[in-house]
Amino acid sequence: MTVSAETASLGERLLSRLDQAATYSRPGPGVTRLYCSEEHRRLLLLLEEWMTLAGLEVTLDAAGTLVGRCPRARAGEPTLILGSHQDSVIEGGKYDGMLGVALPLLALETLRERNIDLPFGVEVVAFGDEEGVRFPSTLVGSRALAGSFDPAMLDGRDADGISLREALTGLGVDPTRITELARDPARVLGFVEVHIEQGPVLEQEDLAVGVVTSLTGIERHHIRVTGKAGHAGTTPMKGRHDALVGAAEMVVEIDRQLNARDDMVGVVGQLEVRPNAVNVIPAQVTFSLELRSPQRVTRHDARRHILAALEPIAAARGLQCDISLAYEAEGVECAPWLIESLERACRECGEPSKRLFSGAGHDGLAMCDLTDIGMLFVRCRDGLSHHPDEAITADDADVAIRVIMTWLSRLDRFSDPVGAPSD
Ligand code: CO
Repeated sequence: MTVSAETASLGERLLSRLDQAATYSRPGPGVTRLYCSEEHRRLLLLLEEWMTLAGLEVTLDAAGTLVGRCPRARAGEPTLILGSHQDSVIEGGKYDGMLGVALPLLALETLRERNIDLPFGVEVVAFGDEEGVRFPSTLVGSRALAGSFDPAMLDGRDADGISLREALTGLGVDPTRITELARDPARVLGFVEVHIEQGPVLEQEDLAVGVVTSLTGIERHHIRVTGKAGHAGTTPMKGRHDALVGAAEMVVEIDRQLNARDDMVGVVGQLEVRPNAVNVIPAQVTFSLELRSPQRVTRHDARRHILAALEPIAAARGLQCDISLAYEAEGVECAPWLIESLERACRECGEPSKRLFSGAGHDGLAMCDLTDIGMLFVRCRDGLSHHPDEAITADDADVAIRVIMTWLSRLDRFSDPVGAPSD
């Protein structure tokens, strides 16, 4: 469906563009558009068209990020970077990622039509890979800009054995030049991403948009519970060292502790039973524990209490419990001047300025090494994402684009970023 530019609201035009982008997908339910895929390559032409309409000059960088720059950005003036990722999960939705690419482009196009000249450089990026679905690596595009890209990632292979190096070459770029993409922090004003909330908070509070204060920190543990295998028919129940029963008690205890707190979330998402046979007492269970909170103190406090509870559970059944930290990434704070200026823009558009944190990772986790980051969340139906039924309304899209246009046109005093006109 195409909507008329004369009569449709900005929100309706935005949704129509997102519908169009969603057709660049592998066949099947929802949207499947992986990094450096044929769908990615074809989508670049559509994005190039939108970028041109927004007055931006377009290049495809060595990491497969499509970059649109306004004349001031090309001239080397301090530049604000807007954008998000073009890729989706397998059978994902139309909005996760693409909203944050399409929205700033339509906002800039509209400002241009209204002859509003922004007194700073603007650039819109469509990162190739944020979801990390195809290759072992993720955030390739944003890490490249931040100068934290590790060239060893180029050797990572997808399920078909194609390396990231080969895939990027197939997209038509030269991956050996990724390390040249690092930006000069002195010329970047900040990075702002618009994204669907992927959670229920805005919906519960009946709000169209919210301003993000921080991106969550994440830690993951491997927990191995070792007992003793035995014949399931001939070993008496008393005195068994059943690793699965011990692990089950641990999972319930973890869930109990996490439910008793309201400041963080966590999950046991993976469980492996050995020998995993119908008639053998489980000898060993390995499971994952993931904890997320924007506050490191909170996360570490939960870790301490949870892990301390596992040992006694193991001991009571004569099991051995080994715990190792597999991954830890610190949370990232959004810049106060971006939070405050986005809030001001919300209020100016007649919207309450709700603050919330992001429980999901985003390109900001990499971009924060380069510059200040900010995010605006848009309400999504049922808090649902990574699913074909992902949905936002035209009214909410309209609010979000007006907030971003207002925010952009008020950000005219970067020497005193929080000192924009007060209302
Ligand atoms: Co996303």
